[in-house]
Amino acid sequence: MSRQKIAAGNWKMNTTLDEGIELVNNLIAAEKDKSVLTILAVPFTHLVTLDKKIKSKGKLKLAAQNCHHKNSGAFTGEISPSMLAAINIPYVIIGHSERRQFNFEDNQLLKGKVRAALDAGLKVIFCCGEDLEVRKTNKHILHVKIQLEESLFSLDVKEIKNVIIAYEPIWAIGTGETATPAQAQEMHNSIRRMISRQYNKRVGEAINIVYGGSVKASNAKEIFSQPDVDGGLVGGASLDAKEFIEIINSFPPES
Ligand code: PGA
Repeated sequence: MSRQKIAAGNWKMNTTLDEGIELVNNLIAAEKDKSVLTILAVPFTHLVTLDKKIKSKGKLKLAAQNCHHKNSGAFTGEISPSMLAAINIPYVIIGHSERRQFNFEDNQLLKGKVRAALDAGLKVIFCCGEDLEVRKTNKHILHVKIQLEESLFSLDVKEIKNVIIAYEPIWAIGTGETATPAQAQEMHNSIRRMISRQYNKRVGEAINIVYGGSVKASNAKEIFSQPDVDGGLVGGASLDAKEFIEIINSFPPES
């Protein structure tokens, strides 16, 4: 079956608003594969302005990089899912390893965030992935299984359809070291089978699973050609318009 191809950029805490506008202008102007859904996860401060710019650009969408698990209240400094929905932001990243590490977000908290985001009408890009220790002991599949079970598997069939899974091995994020295409394929196929078992085969076949961790123009083609890899969540390389456009254009032609 053919699934949506996705190139998502995660800008993290990078770019001023002016730099972000320039980057988006360059992306809009470029020749891009029209079948690819491009999602830009930008800083909160950029969302409203960039949304106005890309409004009519069908296959270009915005994401927030995080949201709170409650919709309002005394949580100084936080942004709620309903605030994002109210400005028509369609996607939010939940569970990025940097938030798990630096903000101590665990599977239980992430379950709450996923629930709140979906309830607000957002679609979720849910990140999972193991660190090097886990990979070395060959427990990476079990590790990801537990992450999915604890944060996602209380969702029902309708809800899980609004989730994109991003497999991001921590040892490959920002390190220049990419998982081999075979390592990515192994995990993506395992995740797809976990989803099929938990829900049903149709849902497993349909769910989008993207790979993240040092995706660049030079390796995107090979990674995106794996049968269970539906695209990428790209950090560093998404900050360079030319490089990111090459990544967007790295999907194999429809068969
Ligand atoms: P990277 O980051 O592409 O810079 O490795 C990926 C991510 O953290 O989503």
